[in-house]
Amino acid sequence: MKIGIIGAGNIGGNLTRRLAALGHDVSVANSRGPETLAALAEETGATAVAATEAARGAEVVVVTVPLKNVPDLPAGVLDGAADGFVVIDTNNYYPQRDGRIAAIEDDGLTESRWTEGHLGHPVVKAFNGTYAQDILDRPLPAGDPGQLALPVAGDDDAAKRKVRALIDELGFDTVDAGGIDESWRQQPGTPVYGLREGVEAVTKALAEASPERPADFRG
Ligand SMILES: NC(=O)c1ccc[n+]([C@@H]2O[C@H](COP(=O)([O-])OP(=O)(O)OC[C@H]3O[C@@H](n4cnc5c(N)ncnc54)[C@H](OP(=O)(O)O)[C@@H]3O)[C@@H](O)[C@H]2O)c1
Repeated sequence: MKIGIIGAGNIGGNLTRRLAALGHDVSVANSRGPETLAALAEETGATAVAATEAARGAEVVVVTVPLKNVPDLPAGVLDGAADGFVVIDTNNYYPQRDGRIAAIEDDGLTESRWTEGHLGHPVVKAFNGTYAQDILDRPLPAGDPGQLALPVAGDDDAAKRKVRALIDELGFDTVDAGGIDESWRQQPGTPVYGLREGVEAVTKALAEASPERPADFRG
């Protein structure tokens, strides 16, 4: 599958490594330009591209940048993606890093709904509570009792199925965490955020979440 990854840091870099190793055709971009990604491209076989090129022809586009940088993504950054393409949003709002975002804190938009508004395209929220290193270190075959489960939220069932199938390929189980308006259940500071457990515990943690933003994650 052709996959575009926008953001080549902890998460984007490790998704590039694993998805390329699985045989996907990965294009990866950062803010500074493809020449700064030569080492990652050489290591993985992925193609380093400009951010405006990453989505070209892609069935899946991963947006994995600090939340404050989402509005800085070039206009039309998703143009040229394949018909019916799916966007995976891994991002989190850290007011200490991102500055205070009133639409999230005061108007109550979930972090992913805010991101959708800037991207102009629906997203599927996944990996936002996953330690980047776990993407490399913790894949296990389906059915292994130690397999970790990741919550996946999205409004479009077909898109969510596609993302869950990709995560299965990466060696993780998934739990359907509902729609994007409910995706506060997996935002920073919730019981499921950073939880390294299987389906049962992840399902329980999602159910125990409070919609009130934790004090540590308010600006
Ligand atoms: N680290 C984790 O374990 C973890 C876990 C789950 C979720 N997350 C979330 O996932 C997102 C990414 O986290 P990270 O730790 O991977 O971040 P990171 O290591 O800081 O990397 C951010 C990447 O985004 C790129 N970027 C920034 N602005 C851009 C722009 N305008 N156009 C294109 N690329 C741009 C940066 O490129 P340059 O370096 O060239 O500026 C860099 O490659 C964040 O929202 C974070 O909260 C992180």
